[in-house]
Amino acid sequence: MPDATTGPTIESVLQEQRLFAPPAELAASARIGSLDAYRALCSKADLDPDAFWGDLARRELHWFEPFDSVLDWSDPPFAKWFAGGTTNLSFNCLDRHLAGPRADKTALIWEGEPGDSLSFTYRQLHAEVCKASNALKALGIGKGDLVALYMPMVPEAAIAMLACARIGAPHSVVFGGFSADALRDRLIDGQVKAVITADGGFRKDKPVPLKPAVDEALAANGGAPSVEHVLVVQRIKGDCAMATGRDHWWHELVDGQSAECPAEPMASEDRLFVLYTSGSTGKPKGVVHTTAGYNLWAHLTFQWIFDIRDDDIHWCTADVGWITGHSYIVYGPLSNGATTVMYEGAPRPSKPGAFWEVIQKHRCTIFYTAPTAIRAFMKSGRAVPDQYDMSSLRILGTVGEPINPEAWMWYRDVIGHNRCPVVDTWWQTETGGVMISPLPGATPTKPGSCTLPLPGIAADIVDMDGVSQPADAGGYLAVRRPWPGMMRTVHGDPERFRRSYWEEIRPADASYLYFAGDGARRDADGYFWVMGRVDDVINVSGHRLGTMEIESALVSHPTVAEAAVVGRPDDLKGEGIVAFVTLEAGRCGDDALIADLRAHVGKEIGPIAKPDEIRFTDSLPKTRSGKIMRRILRALASGQEVTGDTSTLEDRSVLDALRV
Ligand code: PRX
Repeated sequence: MPDATTGPTIESVLQEQRLFAPPAELAASARIGSLDAYRALCSKADLDPDAFWGDLARRELHWFEPFDSVLDWSDPPFAKWFAGGTTNLSFNCLDRHLAGPRADKTALIWEGEPGDSLSFTYRQLHAEVCKASNALKALGIGKGDLVALYMPMVPEAAIAMLACARIGAPHSVVFGGFSADALRDRLIDGQVKAVITADGGFRKDKPVPLKPAVDEALAANGGAPSVEHVLVVQRIKGDCAMATGRDHWWHELVDGQSAECPAEPMASEDRLFVLYTSGSTGKPKGVVHTTAGYNLWAHLTFQWIFDIRDDDIHWCTADVGWITGHSYIVYGPLSNGATTVMYEGAPRPSKPGAFWEVIQKHRCTIFYTAPTAIRAFMKSGRAVPDQYDMSSLRILGTVGEPINPEAWMWYRDVIGHNRCPVVDTWWQTETGGVMISPLPGATPTKPGSCTLPLPGIAADIVDMDGVSQPADAGGYLAVRRPWPGMMRTVHGDPERFRRSYWEEIRPADASYLYFAGDGARRDADGYFWVMGRVDDVINVSGHRLGTMEIESALVSHPTVAEAAVVGRPDDLKGEGIVAFVTLEAGRCGDDALIADLRAHVGKEIGPIAKPDEIRFTDSLPKTRSGKIMRRILRALASGQEVTGDTSTLEDRSVLDALRV
């Protein structure tokens, strides 16, 4: 490998050669403190995966009943991990820390947008979770009942998740930025029994109501008849309609409950949660994670990628509505007995330094955010962060999308003062936790690369036949062996799980290979460089959206005959959304209609899905068999020349019309 800081400063990832060694001081005390130690762990895992995972599961988790087997892969791709064992995620996150001095350690620090803040020790958090668990039981919620959470970033969101896990009621967290229609779809798909929400939250210095969206989801278009109860946290204290018998205030129902509620022993493969994410076809799919494997993976990865220490103050800026919030705000940190920070707000014109203020105030040691946020900070300049004391930081993380070397270097320099390793973590909702990432005490980092797979993760770059690709040849990112945190199925659609993830690539030996949907390459040092999705998924500011979802939202508008949606590179958001729309006969595409269509998509899905640009066209470029040629649209959307074969176009004049 070339030497540390002397490499060329070329910004293209293809030519990126800079290499940064882990800080010596960090490496000296790290759990995994050298590349050799990392490689030794990998070899151990590869040699006998069952022994590797089995030892870790026994050592790192509490078990009510020990498991009989580690991995049952007799019916691929449906894996069973740690069969025969019983455990409880809420117990692992709370009860087991109560025996010693950790009981009075801060578990959760919460910072509200208006500046109010709260903190909970492990003992206090345990009591709050028990009360919430008893409240859910009082509503008749029990083992196996799906509970939806539609919440702002308030402590009750984490408390509710842990309460669900405690009583064995799987949760389905729906990001609070999704619309009433999107919420209803998820309530219906999951046959959800209860919804936990809040009257609202604070955004950009204003109270923003949330409960009306729940009311709309439950009332309009037939509602979601399975929902019996709505539990409402009072946050903004404005007017809030409450339906008698159905709606209950959290403070009225939860606060008076007993602070004792034993954790339900759950079978390893009992469903823990469902989390919806976008794919290239159809409606968002409910990714199912189960109890023991997910717990182990969130726990281990958190420990490894942040080399967690007892005095760490960890802050992940994600929303609990996404997998990053599940694994690295709530479950990974608490399972490890760490202190985790949760922030309701975001940088905004009145407070551009909001994030740095949180770091300074709480002396955060680990900061985990998304490249899109880093790019926005870069744009507004270093003067803002330079005003804050961020000397407490020791590790920086990124997640959600490829990070360009320029943003990586800025992050390392301006936020980390060239002291803190940057861990660029590649993973997905489906993988439960991080899969490819530097270990801060072991892995030399290269700007723009998520570096090496974690121990036990058989990541590879393959072609469509599952053949490993040589160094620097591009290909598809795949995983050759099951791992404990893998999703188990698509809720209600096991065939979709099989098809979308395990049968896209079928190697000649008929082994099963997990297809991640990302394009990537591996360099001569074995480092992975993820390029982005190869399917019809757009990554907007680290949020995953299916082009089909946005297209069906558009065509549900009465003026729209047909729509095709593509992504185009965007300096800040990673990708922007461009929609090509054909209108019903006699309709005229003007600015008013564009505004109307954007609002319509916002209502159908949520504001994050609103197209950045809508182009009206008389027809869309299609093949003779009627398939939309997205490649052409992608080129047009990003202002590039349409290259490659266009001979399959049914009508070449369509292309000429689109060009003008
Ligand atoms: O394309 C990859 C990108 O985000 C996708 C997963 O999105 P989601 O399930 O919403 O989970 C996001 C948080 C884990 C991946 O298929 N992605 C995620 N992390 C990275 C990334 N792309 C490049 N580098 C990363 N570190």
